[in-house]
Amino acid sequence: MRRVIRTDVPDSGAYALLTSLVVPRPIAWISTLSADGIGNLAPHSFFSVACASPPIVSWTSVGHKDTLANVLATQEFVVNLATLPDIDLVNATSAQFDPEDDEASALGITMEPSEHVAAPRVASSPASLECTLHSVIELGDSVLVLGTVVAVTVDEDVMDGDHPDITRLQPVSRLGGSEWGLPPQVRTVPRPAQPDDISR
Ligand SMILES: Cc1cc2nc3c(=O)[nH]c(=O)nc-3n(C[C@H](O)[C@H](O)[C@H](O)COP(=O)(O)O)c2cc1C
Repeated sequence: MRRVIRTDVPDSGAYALLTSLVVPRPIAWISTLSADGIGNLAPHSFFSVACASPPIVSWTSVGHKDTLANVLATQEFVVNLATLPDIDLVNATSAQFDPEDDEASALGITMEPSEHVAAPRVASSPASLECTLHSVIELGDSVLVLGTVVAVTVDEDVMDGDHPDITRLQPVSRLGGSEWGLPPQVRTVPRPAQPDDISR
């Protein structure tokens, strides 16, 4: 294997390189309200589970954007699962709307009340994580946001027994540049509990 070696990653080009290599990234389609009650909706792919118990998710605002300002003001947000039927709408909400403009209203996206937080959820999204702000960590040009999950809603139609069915969820993901990942091919691979369980 011949490797291209980059030692300049802390500087220019790091963002393009990292976002092309840390892939695919799930997309949190985050809905919030401003202090004045104006809705906001934007995708964030620097998104993950940060803690199992208590359940905490994380996402990162690269720069100071409306979503971050709303979360700091209201202490809450909703992560809506970004799915294939909504891929163009998810992308559209990434445009630079003014803080006074509600992306959902502007784009005709139907919102509905959440269960435990004031920020509404996206009606067409099959799953939502309602979160209250746990903490933020300032990191260079970015802010890492940690949110405690206070409610999870999942459309009954995507459930297979107790579990959401990946083929019905149809999640999309973010790759490098303007590339998106489509719902994945799935292989079930049982995890070995002990070294003796490993099939060789
Ligand atoms: C698929 C996708 C993923 C994105 N992920 C992030 C992200 O993780 N962090 C971020 O700050 N911006 C991300 N963006 C850009 C924001 O969505 C964009 O800056 C948006 O205008 C922010 O909206 P707001 O100012 O209403 O919060 C992403 C855009 C797209 C299309």
